[in-house]
Amino acid sequence: MYPAVLIVDDEVTIIESLKGILSDDGFEVIHAYNGYEALKKIEAESPDIVLLDIWMPGMDGIETLKEIKKIAPNLPVVMITGHGTIESAVDATKSGAYDFLEKPLSIDKVMVTINNALNFRKLEEENIYLRKKSIEKNSITGTSPAVQKLYGEIMSAAPSDASILITGENGTGKELVARTIHQFSLRPEQPFIIINCAAIPKENLDSELFGHEKGAFEEATSKNKGKFELASEGTLFLDEIGDMNINTQAKILRSLESKTFQRIGGGRTLHMDVRLIASSNKNLEKEIEAGNFRKDLYFRLNVIPILVPPLRDRKEDIPMLVDMFLEKLSNQSSEKKKTISENALNLLVDYEWPGNVRELKNLLERLSIMVEKDHIDMGDIPQPYNPGCKSVKLAEKELLLYEDDLALAKKQFEKDFIKQKLDLEGGDLISAAKKLGTSVKYIKKIIHILNENH
Ligand SMILES: Nc1ncnc2c1ncn2[C@@H]1O[C@H](COP(=O)(O)OP(=O)(O)OP(=O)(O)O)[C@@H](O)[C@H]1O
Ligand SMILES: [Mg+2]
Repeated sequence: MYPAVLIVDDEVTIIESLKGILSDDGFEVIHAYNGYEALKKIEAESPDIVLLDIWMPGMDGIETLKEIKKIAPNLPVVMITGHGTIESAVDATKSGAYDFLEKPLSIDKVMVTINNALNFRKLEEENIYLRKKSIEKNSITGTSPAVQKLYGEIMSAAPSDASILITGENGTGKELVARTIHQFSLRPEQPFIIINCAAIPKENLDSELFGHEKGAFEEATSKNKGKFELASEGTLFLDEIGDMNINTQAKILRSLESKTFQRIGGGRTLHMDVRLIASSNKNLEKEIEAGNFRKDLYFRLNVIPILVPPLRDRKEDIPMLVDMFLEKLSNQSSEKKKTISENALNLLVDYEWPGNVRELKNLLERLSIMVEKDHIDMGDIPQPYNPGCKSVKLAEKELLLYEDDLALAKKQFEKDFIKQKLDLEGGDLISAAKKLGTSVKYIKKIIHILNENH
C-alpha cells in the first residue's frame, strides 16, 4: 500500500503542484482547504503524514496542529511556512510538529522530509509494538473478577504521578503489579528501579537510597548514586517498606515533602523527580499502632491503595496460570510443553496456596524438572499439594534409611527439608532463612546443589 499524504493549504496552486510531485513518486494524495476539513479527512481516511500550511483563514495551522495531536497523537505533521514565519514554525515544533518546510518549496527537501517523517513514525510504531509485547509478556494472568478489578485499579492509577501503596500476601504479584503500573504510566521509557528494604542491612539503606559522596563514611571509597537519583524521571519501587527502619522513614518523608534530597556526606541539594510505588506484605496500620511505622509517611505513600488478592480468592485463574507457566517453562528449556491431567489440575485448584502465585510457579518449575514424561499425572504431584500421596513420600524417606553413606543421607534430608520449607514460604528466600534460623546464602547453596542433582 502506498503511503497517503494529506496536504492542507488554502492555495490551490500549492496543492496542485505538491499533488503532481507526490503522485509521481507513488504517494496517495488527499487534500483539504482548511483546518476543519483536514480534521474530517484525518478521521475518515487516516493518512500517514500531513503537510500543513501555517497561514490559513479560519482555524490557522497551529490551532489545527493542536487539534490533530488530540485525535491522532502519532500522526507526523510537517508545517509549511511562508517567509518570515520561522518563529511560528518553531512554536509549531513545540506543539508536536515533526518538522517544517519553507516556501517556495524545493522538491528535494519535500521528499527528504516526508521520507524521514515516515521512517520516524515506523520506528515509533515499532517501539509501541515492542512495549505492548513486553507488557503482555509481563502481564497479570487471570480472568477472575478479582483480577479484573485489580486490572481496572492499575489502569486508572497508572497515568498519574500519585504515590501508590500495594499490599498483599507473599508471592501474590505485588512486584508484577508495580511493573505493570510503570509500563502504563506517563514514564514508561524511563527507569523502573527497585529497592528491597528488607534485604538491605539497616545501616546501608540510607546510602542505597540517597547515594553518597566519596569519603562520606569509611567504606565510601568513591561517589555513588542512590536509587532516588537512578530512578530520576522514572519510578522507584520501595519493596517491603514495612521493614524500613524509622530513621530512614523520617528521611524519606522529608525528601517527599521538599521534593529534594542530598547524597550522604554531600552539601548539594538535588531535585527529586520520581514516581513512588511502595509495597508491603505487613499490615502497615498495625505497624503504625506498634510504633514501627510513621503514620505521616503512610498517608503520603498510600495516596492510591491497591490490594493484590491472594490466589485462594481467585482459584478460577489457576488453570490459566498453570498453562502460562508450562508454556514459559517449555520456551525456556526448548522442550515440548508439558500437559497436565484433569485430576492433577484439580489437586492444584483445591490447594490453598499460602505462598500464592510464586508457590505455584515454583511447583511447576519443580515438576518440569522432575517429571520426565510430557504429561503430568496426579501421581506426579507431591506433598503437600497431593494429600493422597503420603505413601510415595514415605517410600522415598524409607529409601533414605537404606543409604550407606551417613553424610550423603544427611545431605539428602537437608535438601528435602529446606526445599519443603522454601515451598511453604512461597519461594521467599528471606523469610525461609528467617524461619530456619539460617542465612539466605546457605539456602542458595543448598538449592544450587539440589538443581545440579536433578
Ligand atoms: N497474575 C500473575 N500472572 C502471572 N504471573 C504472576 C502473577 N502473579 C504473580 N506472578 C509471578 O509470580 C511470582 C511472584 O510475583 P511477585 O514477585 O510480583 O510477588 P510479590 O507479591 O512481590 O511477592 P513477595 O511478597 O514475596 O515479594 C513472579 O514470578 C511473578 O511473575
Ligand atoms: Mg515482592
